[in-house]
Amino acid sequence: MLETSQYKKVIILNIKHLKECLSLDQATLKGLWNEEQWSKELLDPGRICLGIFESKKLIALCCSWLVLDELHLTAIAVHPKHRKKGLARLVLSEMLKKGERQGAKQATLEVEQSNLAALALYKKEGFITAGIRKAYYKNGSDAVIQWKKLNQS
Ligand SMILES: CC(C)(COP(=O)(O)OP(=O)(O)OC[C@H]1O[C@@H](n2cnc3c(N)ncnc32)[C@H](O)[C@@H]1OP(=O)(O)O)[C@@H](O)C(=O)NCCC(=O)NCCS
Repeated sequence: MLETSQYKKVIILNIKHLKECLSLDQATLKGLWNEEQWSKELLDPGRICLGIFESKKLIALCCSWLVLDELHLTAIAVHPKHRKKGLARLVLSEMLKKGERQGAKQATLEVEQSNLAALALYKKEGFITAGIRKAYYKNGSDAVIQWKKLNQS
């Protein structure tokens, strides 16, 4: 368990948290992944999923995939009732630290151009836009590709 300065604990999610992940995904990411895909996320040793619980409810999650020295961020979400309290920054910064400890030298992500909240979050965390992928999403909108160099300690 990773202790945080805000008295919230960021924990590593595993297959026991499958139901909670599916439920938060439905509430925040419009069902990004189905049960089989979530199982893979939670079981594959090359993927990292972190979460924050309040009582027994998962209220924030962040997932990534470590490919050689690149940390590919694949999902981040905070329950609507718990937004704007710094939880996304908390879980994202823990993910970047964990990725770094596991050998990542840089982190990358794709975000929908219209997702201003996510873009503002990534800017605060030091991500820089590297390009645009046209009509990347099912709804035809463009994806912004961002990168961040990680400090090697
Ligand atoms: C994007 C999201 C994860 C942010 O979660 P959050 O816990 O509310 O974010 P935080 O409280 O940690 O905010 C960190 C920074 O992000 C930015 N931010 C967050 N919400 C914002 C909003 N609604 N509008 C503008 N900026 C916002 C701000 O810069 C904020 O810093 P500040 O509080 O010092 O101003 C959340 O809105 C969410 O789950 N959205 C739906 C899922 C999603 O779009 N995920 C990203 C794509 S996978």
